[in-house]
Amino acid sequence: MSKQEVILCTELGSSLQEALARCPHDRLFLLTDVNTHRLCRPRLEGLQELAGVDEIVIGAEDVHKTLDTLASVWMALSQRGATRHSLLLNLGGGMVTDLGGFAASTFKRGIAYINLPTTLLAMVDASVGGKTGINFNGLKNEIGCFAPARSVLIETEFLSSLDSHNFYSGYAEMLKHGLISTTEHLQELLAFDTEQPDYALLKQLVGRSVAVKESIVEQDPHEHGIRKALNLGHTIGHAFESLALAQERPVLHGYAVAWGLVCELYLSYLKTGFPKETLRAGIDFVRSHYGAFAFTCQEYDHLYELMKHDKKNTAGIINFTLLHGVGDIALNQTADRDTLFETFDFFRESMGE
Ligand code: GLY
Repeated sequence: MSKQEVILCTELGSSLQEALARCPHDRLFLLTDVNTHRLCRPRLEGLQELAGVDEIVIGAEDVHKTLDTLASVWMALSQRGATRHSLLLNLGGGMVTDLGGFAASTFKRGIAYINLPTTLLAMVDASVGGKTGINFNGLKNEIGCFAPARSVLIETEFLSSLDSHNFYSGYAEMLKHGLISTTEHLQELLAFDTEQPDYALLKQLVGRSVAVKESIVEQDPHEHGIRKALNLGHTIGHAFESLALAQERPVLHGYAVAWGLVCELYLSYLKTGFPKETLRAGIDFVRSHYGAFAFTCQEYDHLYELMKHDKKNTAGIINFTLLHGVGDIALNQTADRDTLFETFDFFRESMGE
């Protein structure tokens, strides 16, 4: 996989002009969803390079991350004369960058694309690292491929209008990057005033967070080894997310990850020597900013089954990324049913359920 260029923009317009100049193309297409078309598209107004851009607008949110939506993007590209030398700009959150990236990487066996992420989650995670895809057969990101964007242009000004739930959803992935990198980075994330964000400082934190992900993806783009570090919090987090969806009380991905981090730090404490005081600091942060995920012991078996069927496992063995300490990663760990049930007990007690 070629290295992806990730730019923390000082001014989105000029960064985009430069990125377009580095990526020669015959036709330019812009993909947005109905929300980013209304709220974020105006920021690109007046750019000469976008005069005559062909626009494709899709439905917003995860329910539209489907084969039908993907087919509508392929159809628009095909009917409007896109060629192998055309370029697609994806302006939106993770749904738009994942689906747009997949549409681009499969259309005529692959055309170039540039991501312009507009949510915190997309900036620090989804738009970076070349994972693209759609949901299928009730499973998240079931179909997709690794295909890096030519450039990822991060304009943190979009964050000043992000709602608080989506802010915290993205912040959970930043916490994960803190946990897998250094104590200094983790401490600055725990100390950041998320209620009254200082946007200049947030921009620096986003830059450091993206650098953590970039460095891991560069070492292991296709997730054979160290990229699994990015799955910290996700094995149990995905089970929480799927349970909530099955019970028709969906939660944002990052909230499920935050709760999953609490559980997996506890597992790290039990199995790989993660320090108790850092576990405690993580729990305090998550409890005060994310609240608790409510479930009872009647649901433990359902959560366990969901974990066993996660696509990251082989032969039904549940695979975890755990930590010996901050930045000290223990890949390919596992935990038996009893230990997981004890972890759920711990979560419910320590989160005040
Ligand atoms: N979202 C985790 C990864 O990109 O590998």
